[in-house]
Amino acid sequence: MDTPHLVPIARAADIAEGMILRVADTPAGPLAIVRMEDGYHALRDRCPHAAARLSEGFIDGRAVVCPTHFAAFDVVTGVARDAPKSCPAVAIFVITEQSGWLYLALQAGHSDAPCSKEPAP
Ligand code: FES
Repeated sequence: MDTPHLVPIARAADIAEGMILRVADTPAGPLAIVRMEDGYHALRDRCPHAAARLSEGFIDGRAVVCPTHFAAFDVVTGVARDAPKSCPAVAIFVITEQSGWLYLALQAGHSDAPCSKEPAP
């Protein structure tokens, strides 16, 4: 398996535990990044139901809650609960913290596609 290429996208100090940080300019597009006890998690900053910014929502336990219709997306799986009918999972991405910076993991090779975690169906 290839080693991912890491791209710095934000300073770790810019995000306190329990808050959501919007990072607009990343190779994966705008991301909503959350910091929890177990580390950092990144979700696409676009609700798959009707395109609201998840970064304008709030955290409830292990989920980011959409500000528009309140679907709650698990930060690890991307799966929604309490969601409007037929709302799919949101895309989630691999983030690592090193030396005070947050890095988005990209797949090695010429495509440089973001390393997404597979959302559950
Ligand atoms: S826009 Fe997010 S749940 Fe509807």
